[in-house]
Amino acid sequence: MKPSDLDPVIDALEAELRPYRESHRTYTKLPVVGRDRSDILEEMRDLASEEEPKWSSGFASGAVYHGGLDHIEFLNEVYAINSQANPLHPELWPSAVKYEAEVVAMTASMLGGGEAGVPSVCGTVSSGGTESILLAMRTYRDHARAERGITEPEVVVPVSAHAAFDKAAQYFGITLVPVPLGPDYKADVQAAEQAITSRTVALVASAPGFPHGVIDPVEQLSDLAFRRRIGCHVDACLGGFVLPWAERLGYPVPPFDFRLPGVTSMSADTHKFGYAAKGTSVVLYRTSELRRYQYYRNVSWMGGLYYSPTFAGSRPGAISAEAWASMIAFGEEGYTIATQALLETAAAIRKGVEAIDDLQVLGDPLWVIAFASDQVDVYAVMDQMSLRGWNLNGLQNPPAAHICVTLRHAQPGVADRFVADLQASVEAVRHIPGSQGVMAPIYGMAGTQKTRGTVEELLARYGDLQFKA
Ligand SMILES: Cc1ncc(COP(=O)(O)O)c(C=O)c1O
Repeated sequence: MKPSDLDPVIDALEAELRPYRESHRTYTKLPVVGRDRSDILEEMRDLASEEEPKWSSGFASGAVYHGGLDHIEFLNEVYAINSQANPLHPELWPSAVKYEAEVVAMTASMLGGGEAGVPSVCGTVSSGGTESILLAMRTYRDHARAERGITEPEVVVPVSAHAAFDKAAQYFGITLVPVPLGPDYKADVQAAEQAITSRTVALVASAPGFPHGVIDPVEQLSDLAFRRRIGCHVDACLGGFVLPWAERLGYPVPPFDFRLPGVTSMSADTHKFGYAAKGTSVVLYRTSELRRYQYYRNVSWMGGLYYSPTFAGSRPGAISAEAWASMIAFGEEGYTIATQALLETAAAIRKGVEAIDDLQVLGDPLWVIAFASDQVDVYAVMDQMSLRGWNLNGLQNPPAAHICVTLRHAQPGVADRFVADLQASVEAVRHIPGSQGVMAPIYGMAGTQKTRGTVEELLARYGDLQFKA
């Protein structure tokens, strides 16, 4: 693709990401006189009402995991009550300390820690899955430097693990050693063993991984880590609040949590299937000795003794309060019922996808259903789905797409609509000559004709994909 060919792509991308340029006032500097508050609220309601149907009616993959009106209103009320809280000032908001400590304790006990499990499991609340992973990776780096004298740390990571591990490697000077997947899309344990060196500080397993929703062989990887005396981080950002209840419901859930002796840390996202508002996750450690390396302390700062557990300084206590409120509003029973609805819907979607000629479901997933095709161009199918209103995730190596099923899809008729639209999309691709997609599966963007071009080409042409106001 020549640079000039990208102009329409960039224009279309801009139009897609900045649809309000024409219809709404753009601020590039402060208004000279402040605007009326009710006027601001009205504009925001207007913007939200245009966006809401997309996620609320179940056209999105992942993104909004509960989205029921009653639950949203409840969380909004919780936010309003706690809107000024900042856990950086526990003396002013001891309630924030309580909420966070209890979110951590409840998550730990759900994942094999606590009184009935491994009592030493502890952790902190972070701002999301990525931060939980970044914190754990930096903790392993610093722990290994202090305890084992490792100055060039390596982490062994299956290629299906979330990009947050690569981000951590880039941020913290860690070398990632990739582990290939087997034909079942699970991490290859033998390859993981071979990848371990004297510099390895930890290995990673996903339960499940983002791309294909496949759970790695955590038990074998945990055993391996235990034997080789390295850390084992289980990324349960997506599965931490689903798998315990799926297990209870009798689904085939392999061991994946602190009940495995080699598992030394985990991430689990309250803001996904914990059904809390966006902005919280939990990072857990097997022992407080390991967690200690996560904490930042400064005893000589002119501003006084300074301590913070995560990357941020000031933090929104209201978001932690929402995580706490969501967890205790659901309880074990609520999560179990929600998980049943989720997994039954996902099973129906999987069955529907499997019945479509020319599509193949990848791996043996429970609720993230990835599909590829040897016969039709799967990105062209995504384009067709976008034309029908869907916002799926594009995957690469191999080319594929997925839908991460949420409770939005458990609404009546949504799963059937998905399958019917997917069938129609495959048909359309078969019958439109030359509909071979070359779309880059840009994370978080719907696959449309407009986003064709590789990420590298787009970045080269458009700097850091920073769109102007
Ligand atoms: C398995 C997995 N890990 C980590 C993350 C990162 O989470 P976040 O987007 O909250 O930072 C995701 C997000 O989808 C995920 O699916």
